[in-house]
Amino acid sequence: MRSYEILEKKRNGGEMTPEELAFWVRGVTDGSIPDYQIAAWLMAVCLRGMTPRETARLTQEMARSGGTADLSGIPGCKVDKHSTGGIGDKTTLVAGPLAAALGVKIPKMSGRGLGFTGGTIDKLESIPGLRTSLPQEEFCRIVREVGISITAQTGDLAPADKKLYALRDVTATVDSLPLIASSIMSKKLAAGADAILLDVKAGSGAFMKTPEDAAALAQAMVSIGTHAGKRTAALITDMDRPLGNAVGNALEVAEACETLRGRGPEDLTRLSLELAAGMLSLAEKGDHRTCLALAKQALRDGSGFEKLCEMVAAQGGDLSVLEDPSRLPQAAVMFEWKAAQDGYWQHADAQACGAAAVVLGAGRETKESAIDPCAGIVFRKKPGAAVSAGETLACLYSSSEASCRAAARLLDGACRFGLRPPEPRPLIFARVTRDGVFPVCELDKA
Ligand code: URA
Repeated sequence: MRSYEILEKKRNGGEMTPEELAFWVRGVTDGSIPDYQIAAWLMAVCLRGMTPRETARLTQEMARSGGTADLSGIPGCKVDKHSTGGIGDKTTLVAGPLAAALGVKIPKMSGRGLGFTGGTIDKLESIPGLRTSLPQEEFCRIVREVGISITAQTGDLAPADKKLYALRDVTATVDSLPLIASSIMSKKLAAGADAILLDVKAGSGAFMKTPEDAAALAQAMVSIGTHAGKRTAALITDMDRPLGNAVGNALEVAEACETLRGRGPEDLTRLSLELAAGMLSLAEKGDHRTCLALAKQALRDGSGFEKLCEMVAAQGGDLSVLEDPSRLPQAAVMFEWKAAQDGYWQHADAQACGAAAVVLGAGRETKESAIDPCAGIVFRKKPGAAVSAGETLACLYSSSEASCRAAARLLDGACRFGLRPPEPRPLIFARVTRDGVFPVCELDKA
């Protein structure tokens, strides 16, 4: 087999055979195919696309390109969750413990944040003492005994994706549906769970700007998971505005605790309950309505919060900060961002809010940058609210007043105010299963 012929075939829009895909991914991983040929192949895929069968096989080869997690020592159905990333998205810290409290096993490998999106590992690391690089045996033991553990993704998971992603980044080929879907799902398949729930975001703070594009990505990923023999489903959810009130690592941990104690913001609570119900349903705990009722019960009776505490204790974290979030690291400077006029808050561009959080120190500009666990934003009002000139819309937290002022300028540019309230926007657009895309209102009636 010659890589030149594979390139020619892909350039002409042909479908690669399983043998060609295995050869290609092996060559990408061991370095025997040169970067210039890989880059040409990426562009050909970007322009010509891939069939669902071809994308599924590519993903399985990428998943097998390195180590895969062996979760066979954990009894019961193991369910993974993945969000395509967003601003203020701390649902893993709420939905995961709720589902685990109801008997689902959640072995969760998570990433760090880059740019305007946050990462669960950075959020967890704001809890003093908590370890996020767990050896495989310890990770499995905690999932077996507690029901949930969250650890940093190891470097040898899907190395083919690492290589392809680095080249996509510099060849204008990030933006391709089969390449995004195979990249995300190769790591999920290698992580070894039996079932996968995807939260695919749509809006100004997401990869996919419209619910239609998000649904297409979700369908591609659900098809990949199903081809690989994993029960896979997705929710299409809003990321046109930040989720919840808090953006920033320690601030988001505090908000997740409040939410698990029944005192969280309405949008975060609702989405977390739906995600927990989705995980329960993949673990065959009942139909959607039953699973949603179970999740609500675990929120009401505090068992979800207890489960988060058990996990934090098992990973060496200081439990007292969960009981009293004011003991989490605190920022040196707090600055109030205020409304300039009377009216309605019509829109908050989520990506720009994320950029403001990065300026405050809550996110990374490059992979190497350090983050400030205390930095971030707590919104006091949300888009849709009536506001008065001079009213505090958000508290900004950072190590310096200069960065607070710079972030406030970004928020001024990111938010729009007017005389009329905005059209309400759904929080959850649709659910995607192997059988199709279902608007959530239809589901609710089911
Ligand atoms: N996240 C990934 O892991 N890969 C992509 O291609 C996009 C988002």
